[in-house]
Amino acid sequence: MAQLLRGRVNLPGDKSISHRAVLLSSISEGNCTIRNLATGKDLGSTVDAVRQLGVEISESEPSVLQISGVGMNNFVKPEGKLNCGNAGTSLRLLLGLLAGSNISAKLDGDSSLRKRPVNRVAIPLRHMGADIETTDRGTCPVTVIGKRLSGIGYALPVASAQVKSAILLAALSASGETEIVEPTPTRDHTERMLISLGVPLTTSDCTVSTGPASRIPAFDIDIPGDISSAAFVVLPALLLPNSEIVLENVCLNPTRCGYLQILRRMGADIATDEIAIKRGEPVGKLFVRASRMHSSRCDDIPVATFIDEVPILALAATQADGVTRISRLGELRVKESDRLSGIVTVLGSAGAKIQVEEDDLVICGPTKLFPPDVGPQHDHRMAMLVETINLISEGQLTDSYADAISISFPEYYEVMKSLLD
Ligand code: S3P
Repeated sequence: MAQLLRGRVNLPGDKSISHRAVLLSSISEGNCTIRNLATGKDLGSTVDAVRQLGVEISESEPSVLQISGVGMNNFVKPEGKLNCGNAGTSLRLLLGLLAGSNISAKLDGDSSLRKRPVNRVAIPLRHMGADIETTDRGTCPVTVIGKRLSGIGYALPVASAQVKSAILLAALSASGETEIVEPTPTRDHTERMLISLGVPLTTSDCTVSTGPASRIPAFDIDIPGDISSAAFVVLPALLLPNSEIVLENVCLNPTRCGYLQILRRMGADIATDEIAIKRGEPVGKLFVRASRMHSSRCDDIPVATFIDEVPILALAATQADGVTRISRLGELRVKESDRLSGIVTVLGSAGAKIQVEEDDLVICGPTKLFPPDVGPQHDHRMAMLVETINLISEGQLTDSYADAISISFPEYYEVMKSLLD
């Protein structure tokens, strides 16, 4: 029975940055090298789709891709559908990229993706002149016929980096300026990458403005480790007494670090050391030591900066002294599964005192947990939540969810075992 986590690890590349690197290199003017690409199946969906669009991609060694960009407006019409699998980011960003292209394509996904909203992307893209057809329910399969687009001014009704990024990718080939206003800041990897590639893009507070780009130069990128995967390593290290770990080369972009801010407020001993800026992204080490935690306020931190880490924050709150309220979580209902109800079901069945009040989670801690008797609904982050509960309650992982977890973090079991003492 494992009692604690100890050691150092390098995590695979960030999933969000990897999607953007593959898409932008596909329309660049030449040979790009992407190192430490995310290894999950979601990235496989984007890579396969881009190949079907006529882009040559080879893998010289594991996680290192060579992509020969075809330039702007040079895709070939794909044979058959582009299958985005489980990946909302592939679907929505590809729609943005294809809306102003020279081809038409049909995009589809698995049973989870077929339930998730596409209209939030289709509506602004149609304002730009795009021809996009969804199902009657506003979901995929979705057909896009490339058109000449015009820039727009658009206030996002929901804080979504995927929607913002789809519009920014469409804006690259649109005539005129595009201005996007977000209700709260969301991850800004697209903006950072475009700026690093010389695209005239400006940001201030919650506004992003850009004009068309005549070209994207070929580029190389070394993707920093995934801060969202890190969350599932950080939390057990905080909860298992005497643990002490170091995560190297992690993306420390502030629009992704909301969960670190909240955990620190809860008393977590997490230090960072920012050592480099890589293609606009701050990268550094995370030093984590086991800590006693207490409840804390988190409603002043934008939910989008910790949206994928709510499962792990909810688990942290079950072990913290006091009542924690995590507010405005409506977006969790349209993730890979309905995570708002999933978190309550899984943690509730593990013995936590947790409930949903409208779109808020209210958790009363600390409570002793035991392995939950409900499954993770084939959702990768819910599967890692279940395993984290197993680990902190029983001292071991069940190894039962490798397939679900392989969507974002196929190395999860290997990484955890390398740290378990
Ligand atoms: C992502 C944005 C977020 C996040 C998802 C990845 C991205 O989705 O939940 O895992 O790469 O832009 P939304 O934009 O739908 O909030």
